[in-house]
Amino acid sequence: MGIKRKKQSPVCLLEPVSEPFALVIFGASGDLTKRKLIPALFNIYKESLVPERFFILGTARTEYSSIEFRDILSEHVTTDALWQNFKRHLFFQPIDYNDRITYITLRKTLKRHEKTFQTKGNRLFYLAVPPQLTEDIVKMIGESGLAESEGWKRIVVEKPFGWDLPSAKRLNELLQRYFKEEEIFRIDHYLGKETVQDILLFRFANSIFEPIWNRNFIDHVQITASESIGVEKRAGYYEKAGIIRDMFQNHILQLMSLIAMEPPALFEPARIREEKVKVFRSLREITRADIPEYTVFGQYIEGVIDGQKVVGYRDEEGVRKDSHTPTFAALKVFIDNWRWQGVPFYLRSGKRLKRRVTEVSIHFKTVPHSIFKNVLSEEIKPNVLVFRIQPDEAIELTFQTKIPGTTLCFREVTMNFSYRQQDHSMPEAYERVLMDCLRGDHLIFVGQEGVEKAWEFFTPILKFLDKGKKLIFHINDYRAGTWGPPEAEEFIRRDGRQWWVR
Ligand SMILES: NC(=O)c1ccc[n+]([C@@H]2O[C@H](COP(=O)([O-])OP(=O)(O)OC[C@H]3O[C@@H](n4cnc5c(N)ncnc54)[C@H](OP(=O)(O)O)[C@@H]3O)[C@@H](O)[C@H]2O)c1
Repeated sequence: MGIKRKKQSPVCLLEPVSEPFALVIFGASGDLTKRKLIPALFNIYKESLVPERFFILGTARTEYSSIEFRDILSEHVTTDALWQNFKRHLFFQPIDYNDRITYITLRKTLKRHEKTFQTKGNRLFYLAVPPQLTEDIVKMIGESGLAESEGWKRIVVEKPFGWDLPSAKRLNELLQRYFKEEEIFRIDHYLGKETVQDILLFRFANSIFEPIWNRNFIDHVQITASESIGVEKRAGYYEKAGIIRDMFQNHILQLMSLIAMEPPALFEPARIREEKVKVFRSLREITRADIPEYTVFGQYIEGVIDGQKVVGYRDEEGVRKDSHTPTFAALKVFIDNWRWQGVPFYLRSGKRLKRRVTEVSIHFKTVPHSIFKNVLSEEIKPNVLVFRIQPDEAIELTFQTKIPGTTLCFREVTMNFSYRQQDHSMPEAYERVLMDCLRGDHLIFVGQEGVEKAWEFFTPILKFLDKGKKLIFHINDYRAGTWGPPEAEEFIRRDGRQWWVR
């Protein structure tokens, strides 16, 4: 096709996809496809990370032609000469999600393009649809024979994986009826972020941290994932989901498992998954009776964010006026194993908080004895190691130094490694996600047992929250633009600690 694509240089970067493929996107008229999937694919195409023999077949109820589909996607990328090339690989075929006949038509279209692009029957099905459609589409893919081909077949499912433990089990059973576990890619796009992946490298490629990575040296761990946005157009979903299903069962628990897991013998997806699952198996149950002590829930009321007045949750479009859906939660979690015995993990997430930040902070113990107590009135602050996942991705370590001068005074300084200041550009999470699906690499994806164990842990909390109206005394108001309800500050202060991100 005559246009030179940029050559990949350092060998440590991603291995290109070597095999030809067809990518079939369900729900391709939607937001994820336009804003994330196609721009990510176009980027990896520009980097010469995919072969020329590929095509993307979008499908949804909207009756786009392939030309219309290409035009709409053009609005979300820089339309240079390479785009003109790339867009010749894009096609659209409308479908009715519940009508088998339309899947059979889709299969015929797929086969026709497979012949043109010589993709050897390698098929990646991407379910970019709201979760309530997932089961129907999986069933139809199976029953219509779409998943039968002479090449490899894989399926990508976006979180949430189920709604609770029984529905997650049902979804897993259905997926495994038509696909083997190694053909199923459950995405938690947080795990595609460079900073999240770097947690493993940081822990297991630096010998100075692992010996102190345990209850002997670590006082506690905090994970904060805050958003300044509200529910936006997702009230229908959010009203039923709430903060636990939206953030804790997936992103936050996954982050926690990377911090807490044991080193696997080898850097292999299956071994890493197994170590993460062991963390989930060791979580101390929060029973119904424990909920008041180990959790705080909140819902935002009107407030000010970035100088703008914003409405409260109950005044958002699509939200019930008497809604008891929590938009904030703080949890104290323990891992019952030797490494972490007695070390609390404080987990916090919410909408309409002061600013958007996702951060893991490891709080080390204070010095066992201060030799400065006779000359210094202030307390020596403990070291804190921070993984900032977003924004301004960074790793930071705080420590104490002397303020220059004749008197003895301490100051806390921060050693900072900022990803943005380095030479390499930060790839978008979806670039990594798509590359790994196309190469069959499971490292950043979630396995069946991991999903089910995470649901199991949250089952008593979800049962409690799903009681709805009876919760009136348990959901605390917090003003939009703050760090959550005052009860969450009190929650950690009770333990003699305070939230790190302020
Ligand atoms: N958007 C993001 O940035 C993002 C980020 C991370 C994860 N995700 C996940 O990715 C998936 C897709 O997200 P999205 O934002 O692209 O979703 P979306 O725009 O709401 O929906 C995708 C497509 O699904 C079809 N659809 C939507 N609601 C439907 C309904 N009630 N019944 C039948 N069809 C319906 C629509 O296509 P037709 O009407 O043409 O059929 C729509 O264009 C979700 O699971 C989401 O949680 C999204």
